[in-house]
Amino acid sequence: MAEQLPRTAGVLLRGCGSATPSRSISNDELSQRVETSDSWIQSRTGIAARRVVGPDESLAALSAEASRQALAMAGWSAESLDLILLATSTPDDLFGSAPRLQAALGANQAAAFDLTAACSGFLFSVVTAAQYLRTGAMRRVLVVGADQLSRWVDWDDRRSCVLFGDGAGALVLEACDDGRDDLEGFVLRSDGSRGGVLQLPQREEHQALIDGASHQIGGFQTIQMNGQEVYKFAVREVPAILQTLLSKTGTEPEQLDWLLLHQANQRILDAVADRFKIPQAKVLSNLASYGNTSAATIPLMLDEAVRDGRIQAGHRLASSGFGAGLSWGAALLRWSGPA
Ligand code: UT7
Repeated sequence: MAEQLPRTAGVLLRGCGSATPSRSISNDELSQRVETSDSWIQSRTGIAARRVVGPDESLAALSAEASRQALAMAGWSAESLDLILLATSTPDDLFGSAPRLQAALGANQAAAFDLTAACSGFLFSVVTAAQYLRTGAMRRVLVVGADQLSRWVDWDDRRSCVLFGDGAGALVLEACDDGRDDLEGFVLRSDGSRGGVLQLPQREEHQALIDGASHQIGGFQTIQMNGQEVYKFAVREVPAILQTLLSKTGTEPEQLDWLLLHQANQRILDAVADRFKIPQAKVLSNLASYGNTSAATIPLMLDEAVRDGRIQAGHRLASSGFGAGLSWGAALLRWSGPA
């Protein structure tokens, strides 16, 4: 990764929101479909239930609901947004769902595009948003992390289907010229050479086009995951990238108010917390209710903890996202909240 450019403006986290599908499916219910049990899933992952998008719900609608909450918290109109970044790997439309979100919000001054980096997508998007704000090119940005992996899970594969759920979380960020900065540092990494351990590849189907030429038929397979390899990747790389972040920002683990990790598996959260001797009380987790919602986990958790008063203005959070790509990242964030 290149050295970060000199800052011209700081970035403030002003509001957050979240939305999840109405239907919750418990582990016991899931065991009607695959050979599994509540005790196996809870002991291996910490997950008790997950939400699944129903016929009257969509990624765009969940994203819009989460975004409206974030705008309301900040006290901003949708028209005041300059940019919308939608972190998702599961858009309603392959050309991108962000413009539909922009239209649903009535954010008529905002450019909008999707950013795909799987479970790291939200953190990658926050860092991307910050670049627009720091240069002074934009003043207000909405970042949404939203996924509906339920569309792409093989619901007969018990080794993966128990992990995932659907949801959306939103965060609004503002440029600030008075020296304050809620993004104290970040590190981003990618390694495509290891991407085969977690992928959602295209279907390999071809059809004759004309004599001597064929075309591929669009469509994807289901999620393919080597759980043990992904687990090893996470418990090796997440502590390493957090250590780099802490060293780079001159931060001691005791100075953190919260550890806000991608919600993949409680055992991963515990292993990372142990490595830095961060007490369980400072480790945010809502895995039990939602499972792994991919790009949505971090903003969903952030919103829950802000709204129930755990995260307060001025608190510092070390956050790390990791997943398919492979991609992973870490950011040292401060929560300012509404002006
Ligand atoms: O955003 C990143 C997304 N991916 C991840 O976070 C995945 C990271 N990996 C994991 O979380 C864990 O590897 C899993 C939870 C997926 C699996 O846990 P594990 O402790 O690594 O289990 P395992 O794959 O070693 O399987 C142990 C046993 C196997 O049986 P045998 O071969 O020992 O007889 C599996 O067949 O558990 C069996 N098993 C299950 N049993 C009941 C696997 N899945 C299930 C299940 N219910 N759902």
